[in-house]
Amino acid sequence: CGIVGFIGNQGAKEILLKGLEKLEYRGYDSAGIALSVQGDVQVFKEKGRIATLRESIPADVDGEIGIGHTRWATHGVPNKRNAHPHSSHGGRFTLVHNGVIENDMLLKQEYFAGVEFVSDTDTEVIVQLVEYFVSKGLEVEEAFRSALKELKGSYALALMDNESPDVVFVAKNKSPLLVGAGDNFNVIASDAMAMLQVTNQFIELMDKEMVLVSSQEIVIKNLQGEVVERAPYTAELDASDIEKGTYPHFMLKEIDEQPFVIRNIIQKYQDENDNIMLEEGIRNAIKEADRLYIIACGTSYHAGLVGKQFLETFAKIPVEVHVASEFSYNMPLLTEKPLFIFISQSGETADSRAVLVQVKELGYPAITLTNAPGSTLSREADYTLLLHAGPEIAVASTKAYTAQIAVLAILAVDSARAKGLHIPFDLTKELGIVANAMEVLCDSKEEMENIAKEFLATTRNCFFIGRGIDYYVCLEGALKLKEISYIQAEGFAGGELKHGTIALIEQGTPVIALATQEHVNLSIRGNVKEVVARGANPCVISLKGLEMEGDRFVLPSVLEAFSPLVSVIPLQLISYYAALHRDCDVDKPRNLAKSVTVE
Ligand code: G6P
Repeated sequence: CGIVGFIGNQGAKEILLKGLEKLEYRGYDSAGIALSVQGDVQVFKEKGRIATLRESIPADVDGEIGIGHTRWATHGVPNKRNAHPHSSHGGRFTLVHNGVIENDMLLKQEYFAGVEFVSDTDTEVIVQLVEYFVSKGLEVEEAFRSALKELKGSYALALMDNESPDVVFVAKNKSPLLVGAGDNFNVIASDAMAMLQVTNQFIELMDKEMVLVSSQEIVIKNLQGEVVERAPYTAELDASDIEKGTYPHFMLKEIDEQPFVIRNIIQKYQDENDNIMLEEGIRNAIKEADRLYIIACGTSYHAGLVGKQFLETFAKIPVEVHVASEFSYNMPLLTEKPLFIFISQSGETADSRAVLVQVKELGYPAITLTNAPGSTLSREADYTLLLHAGPEIAVASTKAYTAQIAVLAILAVDSARAKGLHIPFDLTKELGIVANAMEVLCDSKEEMENIAKEFLATTRNCFFIGRGIDYYVCLEGALKLKEISYIQAEGFAGGELKHGTIALIEQGTPVIALATQEHVNLSIRGNVKEVVARGANPCVISLKGLEMEGDRFVLPSVLEAFSPLVSVIPLQLISYYAALHRDCDVDKPRNLAKSVTVE
């Protein structure tokens, strides 16, 4: 979910709606705003996108102050009743919330036994608690603080009081939240992007802080009520980076940006003599570690698998890669000197953050590899490696994946050099070749569209097979296809399909095979024959030099180790066109959110 707030003198409605549009990547199943219209707080909410909400608000309604929310449902189905803002029973308080309150049921029992709640959300109990404490005689600020003290879980909150709507009460714990400073107004946002339209001055909030925001003042306090001073920083984002320009979809724009991103990464991480520039602390942390533990979710996890290959083959460092949400339960026996590397495009994913908190408590060092400077995971780790990919807006991750792989390659080569190991290639040159190859692939859109039409126009399912590093790219290719086109897609290790899943192959089932690794080229070809013998429709994508008769597409030649950086591009484009031809919402697929800030 994403939240916004505007505390000024006029024009709040448009600023809130525009802000929410920028936060739609965080969830888009329902949305709402509360506006103070000449001192009277009015709530508007709807199921569906911000556009639906916008249409539902009468044109002549506007306010001076307001809060807003776009939702990714956790508790309660996405409908109007469960949409935020939520109001207290007496109607005095109105609240928006991002996060999950874990003890909501207990609080309901303790404070509101027998009381009927309006929604099925975990949020409503917060706003009721504030009203409850006020009814017991507390001032609003004290009541808000008392309510916060009762909450277990994660929250970014903004609360309006109908009786004095010129101050918005804000608080955060575990969920991201910023307060932005303007001239005669102040704002609140889950992400700076939402409010760049009016300011680039933002103040970070720490967990368990609360803030009183009026048009003239931002007062940060800790839970003891003591004032905390903190200066704003300037958000470096450029508002034009978050526009689609002439592209029909952000996803296509972001796919096309990949050659530029790779070149940018080379520039950011290498000096003119091709020396890798890394913080000394990162180098030392890797040198001291006896094993690296990569923790990530979704696409970032897939990039981590490729990174493991680099770190193990180039730098001879043992690496384990774990899905963040499973790590706490299936925690491996850690070595004596573990180093954790968190990979997260957004730097806000709650599952990854939960592991970071855990390993910090255990006293282990951590590096975050992220596209978002200043994000929670970046702030809380010891070191940050930036992706320099520019904002990624489409829910399906593309350029962040290749950027993650490129930075991991640089890290692996640097770690190898630090150990005096020989690297048999010129890193800058090879990454430069990759960027050029990416350009060629981005220019092959027509061919990719044809493949999508030929193989995926009507199919129910699709398999991706590969061996070695290709297998990892297949996992990512399958994720891309399923998340945006809703075709059931699975990535399989070439040799594993026959141990069960081959039962699903029917006449015409598309099987996309990657063949970019010489040492397994013949074996993967054997797997293709196995599925063809059972009726599959094969689409082999091979690397130049390894191609064979009948291959559907040949990738430009690059260093075999770096093939994931190029082989993924056709898979991204094929998914894009498959989704497009199936009339799916490419940038905002159903049920998903780009940044999942709940565990
Ligand atoms: C969400 C997104 C995925 C993404 C994953 C991890 O589930 O839909 O595309 O890969 O989160 O996100 P992160 O920002 O941590 O890389």
